[in-house]
Amino acid sequence: MKIFSGIQPTGALHIGNYLGMLKQSVELQKEGGCIYCVVDLHAMTIPYDPKQMQKNILDVTVCYLAAGIDPAKSILFIQSKVPEHTELAWILNTVTPISDLMRMTQYKDKSNQFKEEIGAGLLNYPVLMAADILLYKTQVVPVGKDQEQHVELARTIARKFNKKFGQTFIEPKVKLAKEGAKIMSLTNPKKKMSKSIPAGCLYLFDEPEVIRKKIMSSVTDLEKQVKYDLIKKPGISNLLTIYSLFSGKPIKDIEKKFKDQGYAKFKEKLADLLIKELEPLRKKRKELLSRQVYIEEILEQGARKAKTIAQETMAEVKKKTGLI
Ligand code: TYM
Repeated sequence: MKIFSGIQPTGALHIGNYLGMLKQSVELQKEGGCIYCVVDLHAMTIPYDPKQMQKNILDVTVCYLAAGIDPAKSILFIQSKVPEHTELAWILNTVTPISDLMRMTQYKDKSNQFKEEIGAGLLNYPVLMAADILLYKTQVVPVGKDQEQHVELARTIARKFNKKFGQTFIEPKVKLAKEGAKIMSLTNPKKKMSKSIPAGCLYLFDEPEVIRKKIMSSVTDLEKQVKYDLIKKPGISNLLTIYSLFSGKPIKDIEKKFKDQGYAKFKEKLADLLIKELEPLRKKRKELLSRQVYIEEILEQGARKAKTIAQETMAEVKKKTGLI
């Protein structure tokens, strides 16, 4: 199985990134053929501080490793180290309808958020993402719900390219986590947990007292029943999903356990659970942060392996498109 996914180095990762993407990416390693990428070129499409970029790239790499991505099983690398990504993106741009790009939800959201600083890169973002995926003839893309539309577009682009130049690319399938594909913000449970609204994020490496504070003050409702109801109780439903995913217990059992106990008790136990379950990740991160040479070696080796596959695809693409 060929599997590809990426994470942008735009700051600390939250439990949404973990439950929506990282957790299933770690599990997929048993299938073999996994390629995971730190997509630094994507992170340049919104305003950012160049002085922070290198640190963010290493941070995301550490996150991948702390969460359980094993460089002996998977390829882990930095996008910009394999220039074939941008080369293919250019070619794919020539078969991508602008109208498709303009209707992308993420483009609309981000261009609203960064009104004065919208570059063409933000519009073309999904083309680069399609290039990331198609370059490795990927079959499966594990992502959160917010990226589903982009993977759909990658399928469209593959189809258009194949129609014009002959069968080359596989149409990739999106893989969403059964639960957890869309973890909601702790402060506004009607919106997804997102790095752009830091207050509502529970970060993977938050310290125990911060975890407790954020969970205890998370937004719920005026009722008392710990019950899953997405419409009437989005906050409690989100917390139940998080509890279920970190404990491995079905939501029904958790509802039963906390029946008539009130929200404070439920939140307390959820904080305990999160503090315990995230502890190994925090520990592993601390250990990894002191091993920079080891991390650089992993990334270098990953880029070398990725490049071999990418060059093969580009040779085929150039031949099919009539380039010399
Ligand atoms: P990024 O960096 O925003 O997020 C990384 C992964 O986390 C998922 N995610 C969530 N899942 C559940 N609940 C949430 N609240 C939540 N927030 C984020 C995202 O869906 C994503 O899977 N465009 C991608 C990066 C990318 C990529 C690719 C992915 C670039 N090229 C090729 C797959 C294949 C992004 O911005 O992810």
